[in-house]
Amino acid sequence: AVPSLSNPTFMQAHQLATRMGLLPHKRMIVRTIDTGGAGPITSLGTARNMILSGWTDTVAVVASDAVLSMDREAFRARADESVRGSGLPSPAIPHGYDRVAQWHMRRHGVTREQLAMVPAIFSHFAARHPDAMCRRPFGVDEVLASPRVAPVTNVLECARRADGAAALVVASSSHFRRHFGKPLELCPAIVSTGEASGPLYPPAEIDEDLFSCERAARIAFETAQLSVRDIDFFALYDCFPICFLRALEAVGCCPVGDAGEFVERAWRKLSAHGALAPAEFPFNLHGGLACFGAPWEVPAMYGVLEAVAQLTGRAGPDRQIAPKPRRALVYGNGGIFSASAVAVLGDGVY
Ligand code: CAA
Repeated sequence: AVPSLSNPTFMQAHQLATRMGLLPHKRMIVRTIDTGGAGPITSLGTARNMILSGWTDTVAVVASDAVLSMDREAFRARADESVRGSGLPSPAIPHGYDRVAQWHMRRHGVTREQLAMVPAIFSHFAARHPDAMCRRPFGVDEVLASPRVAPVTNVLECARRADGAAALVVASSSHFRRHFGKPLELCPAIVSTGEASGPLYPPAEIDEDLFSCERAARIAFETAQLSVRDIDFFALYDCFPICFLRALEAVGCCPVGDAGEFVERAWRKLSAHGALAPAEFPFNLHGGLACFGAPWEVPAMYGVLEAVAQLTGRAGPDRQIAPKPRRALVYGNGGIFSASAVAVLGDGVY
């Protein structure tokens, strides 16, 4: 399990397992994984390693939080506290990402409008998902007119406070065959995972060393003996637009510095036709953190669930990529670019 912000407890997974009556149990291993928003993907890697090393045949990964039910001041205080010592003004997390966005604008020429295009595109996707919080597509003007939270960050660009939970069972292929009797194609494999760490908050002087997603993606690709060309769907963490732009570059969808233009091309196409087919922009088709919703450390799990839906052809007529994707990449980001975890799901060498 990953920790909860709204109901923090010592050893979250033990609390959960105890309340469910699963402990004590001689063969049960219970572990809380804290890499912030990267937690669900770190957990997939941990589950895969436990299974590959023969410790167990099945692992349940559980993530839940209720930060929308929190009083807004209590949320702000606890969120600020998570980057204690950063010296960032409140709200500290949006301000931390904002600093990185400003640096990226100066260094790579990303425009304010290009940042705003990220949630605008995802609002169109979220409107097709029955569980998404954003029910109505909006445009760049609306993003830029929404209340300002930090110098280049407005409300519609922020991870949206949400209550929510998601769980996933990871099983060995032999266990799956024995107990479910279904062909493996109905259940995507965790082909590989990669992980890397950055500082708890951005240093006074930001440079390329801040980012760790590149390293995590490289490890995942090398382990899988695959490249970005083998991926058909991407769930990339987008707590703020800069996180998504940087992820596009990190996983190799475009060269470093070109993500703003990459997004702008998609936005222009969407604006010209009124919509994008899922295969035209195969990213965060559930809507991502600003539009689907962000219960603190849960959202990467939503990315995994969308990837599983896409890979198994169960995303429904509005969102399904056709033809059905073979492989997906999911990326979780913790803190302010503090932890990166990447998983490749689907067909592959595993
Ligand atoms: N889309 C639409 N509306 C939004 C929105 C979004 N993305 N984000 C906020 N809003 C709306 C809220 O629904 C609310 O609307 P109502 O007044 O109609 O209820 C309004 O904006 C005000 O929002 P809040 O209630 O949250 O109150 P606020 O004004 O005190 O705070 C905020 C606004 C500073 C943007 C706050 O919502 C916030 O801090 N958001 C970011 C949350 C965050 O940092 N999450 C973690 C991201 S980093 C990460 O994910 C990594 C990790 O390791 C956890």
